[in-house]
Amino acid sequence: MCGIAGYIGHKDADQVLVVALERLKYRGYDSAGIAVIDNREIHLRRGVGKLKALSDLLERSPAPGTCGIAHTRWATHGAPTEANCHPHLSGDERIAVVHNGIIENHEELRRRLQAQGCVFRSETDTEVIPHLIAQYYNASPVRDPLAAIRQAVAGLEGSFAIAVMFADHPGRIIAARLGSPLLVGRGRRSPGAHSDRIAKADDRRRTDGGTPVDQRELMVASDVPALLPHASEVCFLADGQIADLGPHGVRLFTLDGKPEEARFKAIEVTADAVSKGSYDTFMAKEIAEQPSVLARLVDSRLNGGRLVDPDLGLDLAKVNHIVFLACGTSWHAALLGKRFLEHLARVHVEVDISSEYRYRNPVASGGTLVVSISQSGETADTLAGLRLARAKFIPVVSLVNVVTSTIARESNGVMPLLAGPEIGVASTKAYTAQVLALLLFAAQVARAKGLLDATAEAALVAACRALPEQAAATLAGAEDAVIEAADLFAAAQATVFLGRGGEHPTALEGALKLKEIAYVHAVGYPAGEFKHGPIALVSSHLPVICMCPKDALYEKMLSNLQEVRARAGRVIAVGEQGDRHLPELADLVFPVAKAGDDLLQPILSVLPLQRYAYHVARRRDCDVDQPRNLAKSVTVE
Ligand code: AGP
Repeated sequence: MCGIAGYIGHKDADQVLVVALERLKYRGYDSAGIAVIDNREIHLRRGVGKLKALSDLLERSPAPGTCGIAHTRWATHGAPTEANCHPHLSGDERIAVVHNGIIENHEELRRRLQAQGCVFRSETDTEVIPHLIAQYYNASPVRDPLAAIRQAVAGLEGSFAIAVMFADHPGRIIAARLGSPLLVGRGRRSPGAHSDRIAKADDRRRTDGGTPVDQRELMVASDVPALLPHASEVCFLADGQIADLGPHGVRLFTLDGKPEEARFKAIEVTADAVSKGSYDTFMAKEIAEQPSVLARLVDSRLNGGRLVDPDLGLDLAKVNHIVFLACGTSWHAALLGKRFLEHLARVHVEVDISSEYRYRNPVASGGTLVVSISQSGETADTLAGLRLARAKFIPVVSLVNVVTSTIARESNGVMPLLAGPEIGVASTKAYTAQVLALLLFAAQVARAKGLLDATAEAALVAACRALPEQAAATLAGAEDAVIEAADLFAAAQATVFLGRGGEHPTALEGALKLKEIAYVHAVGYPAGEFKHGPIALVSSHLPVICMCPKDALYEKMLSNLQEVRARAGRVIAVGEQGDRHLPELADLVFPVAKAGDDLLQPILSVLPLQRYAYHVARRRDCDVDQPRNLAKSVTVE
């Protein structure tokens, strides 16, 4: 989804903002742009395609100034062309706006503005915003930017995060949020504030009519990484807040103008955590991080060898119905969560896709609990589902990786995934962390209901503790076979993944990974269902990846594998290290360590599938971190 960044300080804004946009690329984008104020003029630079187009343009034609706003666009209304790139300007080019979200009543607003003489330069929904702000601003004798923005956003329907600059007010950015995430960053008070550079910037602001600067750099952004390294503190805007950044510092207001306190907290993420380090891609780095992510999560939940239950602010013993809400990969994790809860806590569980749940009229009883699962904590559909549940007085707990996210803030209780920033669009480490966190949650519910005795708890703890080492062994042990399979099947036009029980979600997840980063048509099926139609797809050109852990369904899986072989399908088996049958039955075997508890096996089985998708994508020359058409954080419907 679109990314927003804005900067006020003493550095060249275009340089700062290009780095900020670089850090927002993971959200998915197809064009980028920047506007900087200098000498009371707005300088606009925009480029279609990769961010390099914009940075090359800025090299040829720098945008001077120390205050600017910038944007990565993920097209919704209008193709990725220069005219549709943000920032968008008012007719007199005195106001610049960047926007994330969708303005649902843009057609009606556009017609009205056009009838009043506004000339539109783009096909975007966004462009109505600068025209509206300009109307209110120019109509008022006091020409108050804050009041004009408040009036303009009052007429917008849909969701938005915006950042706005006025040529008449250099050194000032006003940002507002309703539905799409936005945050404000603040740097340290600069001890070198009297350096020539800052003095010059101060002079320029004074000449431009600004008051002497608060010496801290100020930023706005859609996500924390974009604030680094200039900001050391962050303030998350709540829905319906406006932030006014300028020489006066940061002032917060509600949309109807009531002042609010800006609460800043230290930024804990480092610039290193959001860089690739020695890896060629974020995806490769994040796959490799999984053993340490699992270890961190296990350690956070153990004390003296016993499970520690986080306080979720509700009595889990009374919960008799759980509804999971999630999208994409997080939904696959939820399918495993259902198995864990049914097995350990004997609770009735439904797994809902957030975009479906939010448009139904779901039934809830006194003992219902909604559990929303989201890596980003900003997914619009999951957030809407959460709000619907809360409106029905259903308590909501959330599993999120970004604990400062909107979903986390609006939940009654939060279970953090502790996976660290996940930048690659394809979720990998957040998925395995979700699955493990769901197992720990199921154990917590089971214990609250008196269904987890000390022996069972000790066995589960031992299995969890062994997991990080088993994950490392699996990643190392399967790599050669994964590379061989990618060499053999990278050109295949389709791939099928089959799994039973806990490996059915693994099959779905393996297929999603291959689809999203390698653009190979892939589907996951419950293996027993394959013969009811999809088996017609099998031919010698079709790789079929069969999940065959040695669990209660092993024999059944082998029968399914034989059915594929009998029809000349090409079989890759994912099975236990040392399994002697699989090499005889399959073209290739991805060996996986055996988990201490069958419930945990899917965490290990998915690892070679992530690496397989990665290697196939590389062979097909795909950008694994930013696959086409996708966004990391899906903040629109
Ligand atoms: C994962 O690889 C996908 N890119 C996508 O399905 C993702 O899991 C989904 O959009 C949900 O995101 P969330 O976990 O941040 O809510």
